[in-house]
Amino acid sequence: AIQRTFSIIKPDATKRNLTGAINAKIEAAGLRIIAQKRIHMTPAQAGTFYAVHAERPFYGELCEFMASEPVVVQVLEGEDAIAKYRDVMGATDPAEAAEGTIRKEFALSKGENSVHGSDAPETAAEEIAYFFAGIELVG
Ligand code: CMP
Repeated sequence: AIQRTFSIIKPDATKRNLTGAINAKIEAAGLRIIAQKRIHMTPAQAGTFYAVHAERPFYGELCEFMASEPVVVQVLEGEDAIAKYRDVMGATDPAEAAEGTIRKEFALSKGENSVHGSDAPETAAEEIAYFFAGIELVG
């Protein structure tokens, strides 16, 4: 089915001017970028976004990192968009990511791993609503 997923191009990637290269991989996979904006989060905004990870040992570091530089937040649409984008991203740890994936090609570490993508339809809907108004989604 046609789905929407939420994506973040993370600080390590925007800092290295990789937004276009990452978007090229997204589009080549058949996903359409139906909303996109560059923002600079505060640590508190990152903390709310990643609240599900609040008990993890890396939570503080994760929030500081996500607020360290601008990010590009996006909504991607396409057939099985959630699973498809996870395939395009590759494994969380770039050392384990498959050839041709965004993280294999660009990620620096498990934390500085260039992109985020939603893991399920419910989280996709929540994450999209956190950053975008309905009027900004242009399918
Ligand atoms: P993301 O999909 O954005 O959601 C949670 C993030 O936590 C994950 O990507 C990783 O970038 C980050 N993360 C996971 N494990 C670690 C770790 N061991 N150290 C630092 N960050 C991590």
